[in-house]
Amino acid sequence: MSKRIKGMAVALSFVLLAAVFAAGCGQQNTVRRSDKIKVGVTIYDQYDTFLSQYMECFTKELEADEEVEVVVYNASQSQQTQNSQVKKMIEDGCDILCVNLVDRTDPTTVIDAAKKADVPIVFFNRELVEGDIGRWNKLFYVGADAAQSGILEGELAASTCLSDKTIDRNGDGKIQYIVLEGEAGHQDAIVRTEYSVDTLVQKGVEVDKLGYAIANWNRAQAQTKVAQFIENYHDSIELIMSNNDDMALGAIDAYEAAGMIKSEWPAIFGIDGTTVGLEAVRDDKMTGTVYNDKEGQAHALYRLTTTIARGGSIEELSDEFEVTDGKYIRLDYEKITATNINKYLKVK
Ligand code: GAL
Ligand code: CA
Repeated sequence: MSKRIKGMAVALSFVLLAAVFAAGCGQQNTVRRSDKIKVGVTIYDQYDTFLSQYMECFTKELEADEEVEVVVYNASQSQQTQNSQVKKMIEDGCDILCVNLVDRTDPTTVIDAAKKADVPIVFFNRELVEGDIGRWNKLFYVGADAAQSGILEGELAASTCLSDKTIDRNGDGKIQYIVLEGEAGHQDAIVRTEYSVDTLVQKGVEVDKLGYAIANWNRAQAQTKVAQFIENYHDSIELIMSNNDDMALGAIDAYEAAGMIKSEWPAIFGIDGTTVGLEAVRDDKMTGTVYNDKEGQAHALYRLTTTIARGGSIEELSDEFEVTDGKYIRLDYEKITATNINKYLKVK
């Protein structure tokens, strides 16, 4: 992680230096700044594993494009900080903004500032509510369908529970499970929790919920919460459904720290397919995960951002992506288990 952040910081300072250099050359500069698109990006938390991998893909695409200049800000989980960053990026002449909202229910300041300055925004990963995205025709969203990720996770868990009778360790015909939830109020946390368990039940698995914990997408927080569950339930937890890979990995950390042997572990499922998540599937610690296509989303974000900044429209991209309501591009999730893990480890 620190290497990635360092990489991002180095890339960023390169761009900033380039911008300073261009400005310093003033009118003698043969490269006209106005030929370039200036993209301003702000992300909710640079320590989020999935997002930092996503940003790596996105900045790589932007940096390979000589017609683009980019600045990246980290909002460190503060909406107020992000509001100031948006104002600063607009003042600094950004042609378009890519915003990963801190608080998806509170985009008013960001939208008002952009609208006033006529700077379009492509929101990504943290989806704002429909009423807000409808407030201006230059607001867009790139992401994925949260319900689909929940359904796929539920299907993975159901097929494991139905085909492997050893999962029901106490043999009572029911699967004792816990859910690890991301942030309260995040569309992916709410929807994944609901759809994953509903799908499991619809597929014919009888379940018995032992509890849930909110761990904010975070590995260390999940480890602490699962350690508490292990103290209360020891080896009676048969299944853990996690809203993302990092929290699933926190659960694995807790089982390892408790010194429990693998046959006492539950089946553990995640969502994301981050590098560490994929490795846990490869190493048979996580039973399965759902691919949250960061490469695809980063590419869609790049294509949409540069198209809109050049005065084009989202419809121009409808051959490449599924465009909904003239505002949304959503990429598909995919199931990952031991049987297809190599494709993801190699290709992605
Ligand atoms: C989700 C992802 C989580 C976390 C979150 C941040 O899509 O699965 O791991 O990165 O976005 O908004
Ligand atoms: Ca059982």
